[in-house]
Amino acid sequence: MYRWFDERLNLTRFNKKFLNKAFAVHHSYFIGEIALFAFVTLVITGIFLTFNYEPSIRMVKVAGKSLPAAYASVLYIDSLPFGAVLRSVHHWSASIMIAAAFIHLLRILISGAYKRPREINWFVGLLLLLLTILTAFTGYSLPFDAFSATATGIGYGIGTSIPYIGEWVSQVIFGGEFPTVHSIPRVYSLHVLWFPLLLMATLGLHMLVMVKQKHTQPTYAKKVAPGRILGVPLMPQQAYMSTILFLLYLAVVFFIGGTWIAHPIQVYGPPTASTPLVKPDWYLIWVYGILQIIPGDLKIPLPFGAVMNSEFIGSVLIPGILGLVAILLPFLDTRRTKMRYMELPTRHPVRTAVTFALLAFLVTTTLAGWKGELGLSAGQLWAIIIGSSLLTYLVVYYAIILIWGRPPKEDLDAA
Ligand code: HEM
Repeated sequence: MYRWFDERLNLTRFNKKFLNKAFAVHHSYFIGEIALFAFVTLVITGIFLTFNYEPSIRMVKVAGKSLPAAYASVLYIDSLPFGAVLRSVHHWSASIMIAAAFIHLLRILISGAYKRPREINWFVGLLLLLLTILTAFTGYSLPFDAFSATATGIGYGIGTSIPYIGEWVSQVIFGGEFPTVHSIPRVYSLHVLWFPLLLMATLGLHMLVMVKQKHTQPTYAKKVAPGRILGVPLMPQQAYMSTILFLLYLAVVFFIGGTWIAHPIQVYGPPTASTPLVKPDWYLIWVYGILQIIPGDLKIPLPFGAVMNSEFIGSVLIPGILGLVAILLPFLDTRRTKMRYMELPTRHPVRTAVTFALLAFLVTTTLAGWKGELGLSAGQLWAIIIGSSLLTYLVVYYAIILIWGRPPKEDLDAA
């Protein structure tokens, strides 16, 4: 059978070229793979969910109660054998994909893998992270329970706050003032079609660029085989390792999903006139935290009568500035070109300290999301955020210098 296909498709040539590709081995390289496995799991479980989900807010009667059809259909999914588990695995996989993509980004950052010639994959990766978050956010609104409807309403407010184009953006995404009859079908189409297709195309590009440029080599490769590409062939070793990791991923996510059912909508109930006090999903609480500590009545006038309000500043401008710095990073850090090996974090104290300071910023802004519960003022929270980020920078920087010494100049310049 192989020969039959080989004669027609020249498989042997293809196999020699691609299946023998050497894949560098390092535990940190598996994090990107975990994001990939989470995505595959999301697509498969998502397809099952679409069989019974109804993207509509028209009211239907269920056991004498009037409920939005979307909410009722999710209740129905939960009542099916393994339905709640599949939905839970879908929800957990979304969280795992975002967490894995972010930890993967930190790995790229701390090992300098964003530098020339890998800038393209750094940009593509940033786009992937944005698309992943947008896909998760649009999915959050679909059960249309009290919690998700309110959280999506906050998203609608943020979209509308964008100067000049806000109204239009919200119209396109939500089909009018949220929630209209058009909102859920639009968000549904974005969630199950547009964003997944974009994610697939962007992921394909990410992998292509990685294979074409070759992976950075782990630092041990410098000692074992200096100047040579060290790794295991894609077939069969890398394929075996990845399959084992995928099966492990499925075992863990089904255990977690089956034990802790994510987003139990019957607990929240359908949307009501009174707005429940909700926070966004964990990966957006830092943005919500920033919104809590900037003055709510802040308004900066812009030309032609537009204004920048606090919603825009906290949830678009500040995250946007962080994103812009990330985009510019490969142009700001141009030391050492033609990077072949991962750089040791201990040899790059400034970059490592900045990475930890960024983490401190994200943790403390997330903490600010509980401003009311903590009983702290906005000023106190700002002091904690700025103080802990600076302190983390100084502690990490000097700890590295004290323990590993200053990096010799040639370490920074050598290829
Ligand atoms: C959202 C999902 C993402 C998936 C599924 C994904 C997947 C992967 C995989 C499997 C690899 C090869 C193994 C590894 O180095 O871990 C890789 C490499 C890479 N990724 Fe991602 N990635 C994602 C997001 C990102 C993000 C957010 C960034 C950075 C902004 C990024 C930048 C890179 C770079 C620069 C490489 C090459 C690394 C090297 O040669 O050392 N990726 N990605």
